[in-house]
Amino acid sequence: MDKIVIEGARPLKGTVRINGAKNSAVALLPAAILADSTVTIDGLPDISDVETLNSILEEIGAVVTKDSNQTVHIDPSSIVSIPLPNGKVKKLRASYYLMGAMLGKFKRAAIGLPGGCYLGPRPIDQHIKGFEALGAKVTNEKGAIYLQAEELRGARVYLDVVSVGATINIMLAAVLAKGKTTIENAAKEPEIIDVATLLTNMGANIKGAGTDIIRIEGVEKLYGCIHTIIPDRIEAGTYAIAAAAQGEDVIIDNVIPEHLESLIAKLREMGVIVEQGFEQLRIQSPSKLKSVDVKTLVYPGFPTDLQQPFTTLLTKAEGTSIVTDTIYQARLKHIDELRRMNANIKIEGGSVLVTGPTTLNGTLVKASDLRAGASLVIAGLTAQGMTEIIGIDHIERGYEKMTDKLKRLGANIRKVPMTEHEIDKLNLELNL
Ligand code: EPU
Repeated sequence: MDKIVIEGARPLKGTVRINGAKNSAVALLPAAILADSTVTIDGLPDISDVETLNSILEEIGAVVTKDSNQTVHIDPSSIVSIPLPNGKVKKLRASYYLMGAMLGKFKRAAIGLPGGCYLGPRPIDQHIKGFEALGAKVTNEKGAIYLQAEELRGARVYLDVVSVGATINIMLAAVLAKGKTTIENAAKEPEIIDVATLLTNMGANIKGAGTDIIRIEGVEKLYGCIHTIIPDRIEAGTYAIAAAAQGEDVIIDNVIPEHLESLIAKLREMGVIVEQGFEQLRIQSPSKLKSVDVKTLVYPGFPTDLQQPFTTLLTKAEGTSIVTDTIYQARLKHIDELRRMNANIKIEGGSVLVTGPTTLNGTLVKASDLRAGASLVIAGLTAQGMTEIIGIDHIERGYEKMTDKLKRLGANIRKVPMTEHEIDKLNLELNL
């Protein structure tokens, strides 16, 4: 078990290259099993969530071969519908995409309820509503969801809550269903368009992905194809925030700037200079930052996945900023840790009030979810002295080689083995 150690307050300078999107990758891999021949996915991020999903696909009979960790060929021709009520599926939230994909392919599936980051309650009622509308019988037994259908028939599904996961899962189940499906009040995130693009390349008939009405006409068969994944807007946003917090002049390469408009607007409001290139962003931070209020919303609003990193940046801004996460109100596990580093943060009436500027002080902190981990890394980069971050497996679920990338930008950051005392502390807290 490793921890991240950062000697803070060193300016970041240079270029960082962004990988393929984690939240696309974890949907594209399950989607690939719907084909009848090999699907090649290029540009995958080298992160543990992708590794876990690949090994789940192998468990159900897919032949997964790699040219590198970025390019994976999935031959789904020998896949069988074995129940997966436990085991690796519990390790990541996105294993719920196997529900839609296996239901679509085999008309039955049994998948353990997903794990992933604890961000407060994360129900999947809208996924189930969609599966039932398509004709599946859904039961929940001992922490696993069992789905079964004689046949799947297209239907009209109105989502009561705009959900990325439910939108993708219903697409996965509907592409091979008989007839027409309409998903109303669908999520519009770029990852949904990416999944629809893969499915379309496989032969599916999908219209409207990226708008709030998606129309799907079921087809008999889906075929193998080659697909290149979109860049990770959340990884890019995280580095943009790090650059705003501690950067001199940082270029973020392999990014679709339009995917980050809400973040770019907020950075500019704070006084950060953001230049947009073709597939690049250039971030230059002024000596003084202005406070801003931020409310997370569904895409194209400010992403909840950047709320925690952005909160760290606000500790450097002059005045009081108000942060409200309307998607996950309990996504607050970074707050106590930031306070331990001297941040002036209060939680009031469901919002987070950050007053700055404060000089953060390095200390031992714990990452308890992926984006909380990213927010602590940024805090460590700006802090005086040494910051040690434990619980970094959360960070490695979603950020490829974060320490190497930051080192190349000039940070004094490294991974070192944890002491026995730190391992005990982590295990003790995990068991509570
Ligand atoms: N919701 C329901 N019922 C449902 C589904 C969702 O009430 O059936 C609620 C959720 O509780 C939440 C809101 O709807 O309040 C939005 O949830 P959504 O379903 O969109 O989230 P998700 O699909 O489970 C994905 C990302 C998250 C990201 C959210 C919101 C993946 C694998 N995960 O989760 O990413 O925060 O969308 O954009 O794509 C991360 O990358 O750190 C991460 C947590």
